[in-house]
Amino acid sequence: MQYRLLIVEDEVNSAKYLARILETEGYKTEFTPSAEQALALIAREDYDVLLIDKVLPGMDGLEFLKRAKETSPDLLAVIITAYGSIKSAVEALKLGASDFLEKPVVPEKLLHVLHRILEQRRLTKEVIALKAGILERYQFRSLVGKDPKMRGVFAVIESLAGVDSPVLITGETGTGKDLVARAIHFESHRKNGPFVAINCAAVPETLLESELFGYERGAFTGAVRRKEGRFEQAHGGTLFLDEIGDISAPLQAKLLRTIQEKNIERLGGNRSISLDLRVIAATNKDLKDELASGRFRLDLYFRLNVVPIHLPPLRERLDDIPLLVDRILGKFAQSHDRPVPELSRDAIAKLMNHAWPGNVRELENVLERALIMTKDNVIDDVAFAHTPMESSISEPRFPLGFSTDLPLSVVRQRAIAEVEKAYLTTLLKNNKGAIGRTAADARIDARTVLRKMKQYGLKKSDFK
Ligand SMILES: Nc1ncnc2c1ncn2[C@@H]1O[C@H](COP(=O)(O)OP(=O)(O)OP(=O)(O)O)[C@@H](O)[C@H]1O
Ligand SMILES: [Mg+2]
Repeated sequence: MQYRLLIVEDEVNSAKYLARILETEGYKTEFTPSAEQALALIAREDYDVLLIDKVLPGMDGLEFLKRAKETSPDLLAVIITAYGSIKSAVEALKLGASDFLEKPVVPEKLLHVLHRILEQRRLTKEVIALKAGILERYQFRSLVGKDPKMRGVFAVIESLAGVDSPVLITGETGTGKDLVARAIHFESHRKNGPFVAINCAAVPETLLESELFGYERGAFTGAVRRKEGRFEQAHGGTLFLDEIGDISAPLQAKLLRTIQEKNIERLGGNRSISLDLRVIAATNKDLKDELASGRFRLDLYFRLNVVPIHLPPLRERLDDIPLLVDRILGKFAQSHDRPVPELSRDAIAKLMNHAWPGNVRELENVLERALIMTKDNVIDDVAFAHTPMESSISEPRFPLGFSTDLPLSVVRQRAIAEVEKAYLTTLLKNNKGAIGRTAADARIDARTVLRKMKQYGLKKSDFK
């Protein structure tokens, strides 16, 4: 889609400069030197964004902005102010400008700002469209997502309905592994059978075997009666082995045998019980690492990983956020017995900028908290104060003392120094200050170690 921009700027050269930058990026631009003319134009034409110079002859940029917003509230506006005039920038934002730029306008900044505000508007629109009821299209049972990878996941779940292949679900914490496991079961021909889940990391190692396989009376001290294991309980349905990356080597061997032979023996028993079930395993560990280090058996991995499903982290599918927000708020509003709240533009922007290390679960927590903090029915970004959202900013963060005011060469030097110092400190600590061993570990000579220690103010005696 080609966006239409109106540049309101009395200096022709400045306007031409902006237009050139924008047109090479595919924007369609028009230009007018006066606010009065601009008002007439926006009443007639359909623009996406106004680029307004603050200083204009006659009606000035801020006054124009105010009037433009009165007649066309949806029109996006960016105000261009003199360098360092924060006050008028703030005033412009209050009047409804989406952002401001300082003169001289830096091309990258201009493009970045436009991209961001147009993207935000697109998402805001999407949330509104969703409210209008097209949610179902992106929904698979209780799973929502329109990201291509998530749609791929939905397709795999559907294709699993009629077969019993084992499935291995991987993904960071909170990405929906549990939910997907349930969806697989309830979509499948086993849906009327049991869905039995066990978190292998939550059950103490010593109990896990008896939990999974059950035991006969007298199998061990305390086994006063017979107990069915989870495998048996899942007969006819699905067994969900969560956190599979954490099980011990002997249990891995036993699990492998069970899955291959499709039968079990209870502990202390000698009768073999045959099983009919599907196994779904999940882990948030990178099993490849576990395989490489030998902690996880390759043969078991191949047994379980017949159908792999990987759930991407939320930060890689930001487009799903509006959908998720809508769904989560709907759910909470219902359980708190209040109307579904709206989100302010700033609040949406903030959600889109967060890195979401806890993924969808974190999003749920943030929204529930915000809902509680919000008395009226609009969640504003202030509702996210004191949550982890506050501390993670979209902008890249520099280590202490660095800034873009310094030339790259200086920043690079300082970064290297910082890394070298940390590296040497660690080695010196490990080696209790022994220079020879530190040099050997670092694969440099002892003289260089000494020189660098002096350079970074590290003393041998501090590590004794
Ligand atoms: N695609 C999704 N659509 C709707 N809700 C989701 C989605 N993904 C996750 N959720 C919700 O996020 C929360 C966390 O999901 P879930 O418990 O399935 O994550 P998980 O991957 O099993 O996490 P962990 O590794 O910590 O066990 C749940 O409340 C779930 O309902
Ligand atoms: Mg889980």
